[in-house]
Amino acid sequence: MSSPLRISIAKANLATATRLADLGRQTFTETFAVDNKPADMAAYLVATYGPELQLAQLQDPHCTYLLAEMQGQTVGYLQLWQGSMLGLGADSPNAKQLEIKQLYIIEDWIGTGLGKALMRRALDIAQADGCTAVVLGVWEHNERAKAFYQRFGFREVGEVAFKLGEDVQRDLIFRKGLAGR
Ligand SMILES: CC(C)(COP(=O)(O)OP(=O)(O)OC[C@H]1O[C@@H](n2cnc3c(N)ncnc32)[C@H](O)[C@@H]1OP(=O)(O)O)[C@@H](O)C(=O)NCCC(=O)NCCS
Repeated sequence: MSSPLRISIAKANLATATRLADLGRQTFTETFAVDNKPADMAAYLVATYGPELQLAQLQDPHCTYLLAEMQGQTVGYLQLWQGSMLGLGADSPNAKQLEIKQLYIIEDWIGTGLGKALMRRALDIAQADGCTAVVLGVWEHNERAKAFYQRFGFREVGEVAFKLGEDVQRDLIFRKGLAGR
């Protein structure tokens, strides 16, 4: 029997942008509201999610969104940026990094293999594009995500500040070098 999971590259239109904004707001809240102040969460959500913001990202040639759909419902997504300088100095002209900016599965579907499927697709894209590495930032206290990335061979290579409203947090930079590059 074929898998009911469908992974697709999001199209740049307002309906998709609206779906992504709703999904982003929902999953960020599910993941981080419990550990952060409501005012910081509210400020971040307003600044980060909205149909016009996600539409601009969808129209940016450096950005790719992958959608995970089960029975027609979007239950997770992954946002990629080409040409990321995360963790690099200005003197690294030969690096070609793909950054996973966001990877979120809705609560009910966590632990069912969707994160792995999205990650595999992202790594395939990076390989096909001739990237030297895949990089990402993860909150230092997000143990579940850190363990997930480590299982894929990502290793900590640095840190970067992340502003959630007024709260300046510490994100760890994780990197996975790609074979032969
Ligand atoms: C992190 C996240 C994307 C992982 O996706 P997922 O769909 O839950 O993970 P999967 O079910 O695909 O698991 C893939 C593999 O990792 C393992 N895994 C998943 N979570 C793990 C954990 N916390 N610790 C160790 N292993 C873990 C699974 O057992 C599975 O292993 P297997 O291949 O041997 O079966 C998901 O938990 C999520 O969306 N979390 C909330 C949002 C978030 O924190 N995003 C990251 C922000 S940087």
